[in-house]
Amino acid sequence: MKILFIGDVVGSPGREMITEHIKGLKQEHRPTVTIINGENAAHGKGITEKIYKGFLAEGAQVVTLGNHSWDKKEIFSFIDDATALVRPANYPEGTPGVGYRIIQINQVKLAVINLLGRTFMNPVDCPFKKVDDILAEINGEADVIFVDFHAETTSEKQAMGWYLDGRVSAVIGTHTHVQTADERILPQGTAYLSDVGMTGPLDGILGMDRHAVLHKFLTSMPVRFEVAEGKRQLNACIIAINDKTMNATSIKRITRTDEQTIY
Ligand SMILES: [Fe+2]
Repeated sequence: MKILFIGDVVGSPGREMITEHIKGLKQEHRPTVTIINGENAAHGKGITEKIYKGFLAEGAQVVTLGNHSWDKKEIFSFIDDATALVRPANYPEGTPGVGYRIIQINQVKLAVINLLGRTFMNPVDCPFKKVDDILAEINGEADVIFVDFHAETTSEKQAMGWYLDGRVSAVIGTHTHVQTADERILPQGTAYLSDVGMTGPLDGILGMDRHAVLHKFLTSMPVRFEVAEGKRQLNACIIAINDKTMNATSIKRITRTDEQTIY
């Protein structure tokens, strides 16, 4: 199985990049399944039903979320029917939606798990204990297990990579919006990347208009962040997995901008 995972889509520039590039990426990399992190897809924060359905129409099979899951309140009206949406699993018991899903593609069962980190983030349940519970529940029912770990620090992400090495097929970080260059297969066969990067504005600061962000850094005054305009980028990775052993066999980063194909 090959998984194309596209990092945090930010606002309309990110959605445009999906529309413009997904076909070409699929032709080039031939993924079996495409997963998009969509937690910033609606004006930089949250997701709407129209955007979620748009991602599926573009060819994604699963959409993952993160700390901005609830920022567009309409999510509560469609999350129960959104069978391809996965929100962070370590929200408290009783939270709407599901924290992991198992989908079947051809003969292969793929589990997609979304987890939130806790370091420098709002408090949630322990992602390490939660993923143990989920793996016990899955109990061999999945051939391939993909984890989107939405977290701030590289240390917490590396910790999750090592914690899950040999127990899942891939641990890929999201949330920081800057692609890291540390992709590797860990010794027990888990593909790891601290952050896949984001899909959206190129010349902003993490996707937001840089003038507003700079103003905040320079003055500490409250400012309204807007999604940046101008040049755009797409960041993703492609992971090949042996679905008989659950082990990853390769992981490659992908980066496109309006001007160039970097990888
Ligand atoms: Fe995030």
